[in-house]
Amino acid sequence: MIGTTLPRRAFAAGLLTPFVRVFAQSCAPPAGGLPQAFAVPTGQTDIVRKPISALTGNEITRLRLAYQRLRELNTSAPNNPGSLMQQANVHCWQCGGMGRDIHQTWEFLPWHRAYLYYHERILCKVLNDQTFRLPYWDWDVDRTRRVPSTYRRTPSRNSLFNTNRNTNDGSKMPSGIFPSNGNPMDSPNFAAFGGTADAGGNMENGPHGAIHVWTAGGSRADMGRLDTAARDPIFYAHHCNIDRLWAEWIRRNPTAHANPTAAGFLDSNWTFFDENGVLRRIRARDVLDSVRNLGYHYAPGAALAAPAPTKRIDLEVSNNRIKLPAAERDRLLQGSNGIAVSRALIVEGVTLPPGTNYYFVFANEPQKTGSDPSKIPNYVGYVAVIRGEHAHHERPGALALKATPQFLQLAGTPDGVALILKSTGYGDTSANGTSLAFKNVYLMEA
Ligand code: C2O
Repeated sequence: MIGTTLPRRAFAAGLLTPFVRVFAQSCAPPAGGLPQAFAVPTGQTDIVRKPISALTGNEITRLRLAYQRLRELNTSAPNNPGSLMQQANVHCWQCGGMGRDIHQTWEFLPWHRAYLYYHERILCKVLNDQTFRLPYWDWDVDRTRRVPSTYRRTPSRNSLFNTNRNTNDGSKMPSGIFPSNGNPMDSPNFAAFGGTADAGGNMENGPHGAIHVWTAGGSRADMGRLDTAARDPIFYAHHCNIDRLWAEWIRRNPTAHANPTAAGFLDSNWTFFDENGVLRRIRARDVLDSVRNLGYHYAPGAALAAPAPTKRIDLEVSNNRIKLPAAERDRLLQGSNGIAVSRALIVEGVTLPPGTNYYFVFANEPQKTGSDPSKIPNYVGYVAVIRGEHAHHERPGALALKATPQFLQLAGTPDGVALILKSTGYGDTSANGTSLAFKNVYLMEA
């Protein structure tokens, strides 16, 4: 029976720990019968999703009431698919435990969008208010780069509070977590931003992972682990921001930033319980137009940059060392003569570091140390991956780093340059000081 037995292979691989048994039993969804196709609910209208920092007092009260009701269902109706634990289990099931893993693939963005949509419908239902919309945690803005006080205050009366965070003191995130001039909004294409059929994108392995790891701090519970992350209400606000940045990335460059058009992407589909306990099947193609189908939009961010022509320059790789191609070397090294040239460094087929982790990436060994990586000239970005505590199908990832002048200089030397991982102190640190392994690397010049 599903959820109580494990495949033979798990025994062979020595994975049968008490944890795995508990996990396998606790994550299974309730029986749901044959799924019905997604359909836009009658009367659904398009409403803006706001940042937590812009919620009114009344909206905060409703948000807390909604999560209070999901928590109450944990005890009053534990098999109700809308209870907070059942909602968390949907994520647990789909993170590589027993269900198919939608992480580290191009399904990451659309699956979480669909998941948040049904979660939002359930919150509407318990509030009996069809106008409720999820708020997002806008950690891409410096001012709000900490756990919002709305989620921290008065634990005894605040259903948004979660004790398994190490960040409830209101401390700030490390400054490198969302560099304004670096990854991942600079990703030139969807493969780099949101992944491919068999690799994760930089949104997932950048701020997404880093904020999971940072929020949990050393606790490795709830936000710090894929199988438990969605037990913390901040999870939904975190993912709502990922969802917004996806919409924002598409909006910023209408020519180059587009979702995949392959049927394998558009037809990928999953099931969720809706607010009435009906199992629904929803496809990636159903979630791409949130205004029409899902009843929400986000206010647009920064003004659109003029669509800049982009040029791709493939770099040479041997033994994970990167060199500038001879034909472009002089041009890339001669400086920009005062013309601002922005160059993203896209690394594909990256072997992601083990465990749940958060590393800074440097062009060769860092020339300085310090907690603010942007002050170190050969800092090029970071990688952060969150995983569950169970057997996991490992896939490679893509990173959108920054081709700084220092990086270009080192890549112009006969030895080329390696990408060196340096621990931030969060998560697994066993890859500290090692050089990143990857398949190919290129510059995108704008
Ligand atoms: Cu499904 Cu933040 O992970």
